[in-house]
Amino acid sequence: MHILHVVGARPNFMKVAPVMAALTDRPKISQVLVHTGQHYDVNMSDIFFQQLAIPAPDVNLDVGSSSHAQQTAQIMSRFEAVVLKHQPDLVLVYGDVNSTVAAALVCAKLEVRVGHVEAGLRSFDRTMPEEINRLLTDQLADLLFTPSADGDANLLREGVAAEKIHLVGNVIIDTLVHLLPAVVCSDATTRLYLKAKGYGLVTLHRPSNVDEPAMLRQIIGALAQIAADLPLIFPVHPRTRQKLAALSLPMDDPRLQFVDPLGYLDFLALQRNATVVITDSGGVQEETTYLGVPCLTVRENTERPVTVTLGTNTLIGRDLHRLRKETQAILRGEIRQRHIPPLWDGKAGERIANVIASWSSR
Ligand code: UD1
Ligand code: UDP
Repeated sequence: MHILHVVGARPNFMKVAPVMAALTDRPKISQVLVHTGQHYDVNMSDIFFQQLAIPAPDVNLDVGSSSHAQQTAQIMSRFEAVVLKHQPDLVLVYGDVNSTVAAALVCAKLEVRVGHVEAGLRSFDRTMPEEINRLLTDQLADLLFTPSADGDANLLREGVAAEKIHLVGNVIIDTLVHLLPAVVCSDATTRLYLKAKGYGLVTLHRPSNVDEPAMLRQIIGALAQIAADLPLIFPVHPRTRQKLAALSLPMDDPRLQFVDPLGYLDFLALQRNATVVITDSGGVQEETTYLGVPCLTVRENTERPVTVTLGTNTLIGRDLHRLRKETQAILRGEIRQRHIPPLWDGKAGERIANVIASWSSR
């Protein structure tokens, strides 16, 4: 069976790595990796191929950045030729980015089977571009691999046939489990003058937080206040870097350090050693739950509810006063017990490979 994987943006790379590894050396399976080029900076793309030992992409569509419609359309038009050339039996798409939905739509029109890794997640917030990508991709997919039981329930409610849905666990946790022993190689904490369990880690890149100048200004103001109690380190996503530059805010507070996006091992080391993580990232909500590190999510909702019900995640919405209060509570040691969600055990990639192997032999 010939499988084609499609990735494009930073969080896709942590998800494809364990699936490709699990499919390698399986009898009668060949794999091709397509990078759409949605993310292209070395520290948003290449560094993850090195650190996660992902094979170099066989094809790069080099689409780069543009509006949603232009980016999605360019991926579609360039990817169609790749599918026609490679004639895959199955295309695997990952997560909820524009590359995911664009590839799924091309396959549906060419009658090529699609598997969606990280299916069924719903924020129920259609102002998020990712929610549109999730809804459409799941309607188009033939195999839907869910990370948690809420995903299965969402898909069944939307009319997806039960036999297409496979609860396999969380592939991003596979990568974490696999690379956690290697974080000893990271000197990020000392290099950035941080003391283990004596700092907060921040990542923010959702358009709802960073594209609106007033909101971004308020967030940076709240972070400056929190930094008076706890030093903060903020690896800045390129979208956020651009929006910050337009605000011309002072960025010279030594207790609130802005740095470039980090490689996976440095970022994992910083998550593990943090007192608290403040984020709007999907993957970071999951990783902090696995690591048992308190996470404050600057969003009104999450498509990853188990991180709140079982894990360490608290949704603080857009209430930045609450962000400061919750940080202070964590500093006082008010930290709740967490449980790792079922099947977040480092074996999701293997389960996906097993499903694909039995599906192909039907
Ligand atoms: C995308 C995903 C989002 C995901 C995030 C992960 C969509 C709709 N959004 O958001 O779901 O959480 O990736 O990080 O697919 N840029 C660079 N260098 C790069 C990549 C981007 O400078 O390597 C800048 C460009 O100015 C670009 C902006 O970042 O316009 C946004 O990039 P884009 O891929 O459109 O969206 P993200 O915000 O990265
Ligand atoms: N990440 C990283 N370096 C950083 C910030 C994040 O390696 O500077 C990793 C993080 O550990 C997680 C993934 O990137 O594995 C999450 O990606 P992102 O937040 O860009 O996207 P989202 O999950 O929100 O779609």
